[in-house]
Amino acid sequence: MWELMLEKAKAVMQLAYCPYSNFQVGACIVTESDDYFVGCNVENASYSMTIDAEANAIAHMVAAGQQSIKAILILCHGETPCAPCGACRQKIREFAQENTAVMMCSIDANGKLYQQESTLGVLMPHSFGPEFLDDCG
Ligand code: THU
Repeated sequence: MWELMLEKAKAVMQLAYCPYSNFQVGACIVTESDDYFVGCNVENASYSMTIDAEANAIAHMVAAGQQSIKAILILCHGETPCAPCGACRQKIREFAQENTAVMMCSIDANGKLYQQESTLGVLMPHSFGPEFLDDCG
């Protein structure tokens, strides 16, 4: 599973539109039904409108009728595995569980892979999610 996710994230990372940061990111989600969805970052001249790679992958997943993330892998260039930003952690949280696997990866100029596995609950403890709204009428 991780190998295929990495392959897909590598391919989509090359498609990133990031003329402002020059920081390419690729993300790959595998859902509970074992389908794969990818996304890259898409920047904008109005900087704050940037779509992050994880958000892009989530949008593809939802548009395909799926809403349950089993694992997500995030990839960038360099020697430091790409951590999802705070906003993306919240977006992942909407469709994931505390024990959902999050694989942070990077790949250097020689093709060497750096990776660190975590879970959503570790990356985002005490988080707010859909169930909080259940009791509010
Ligand atoms: N970026 C992502 O796509 N995901 C993250 O979790 C962190 C940051 C993108 C946004 C922007 O295009 C570039 O990386 C630099 O911040």
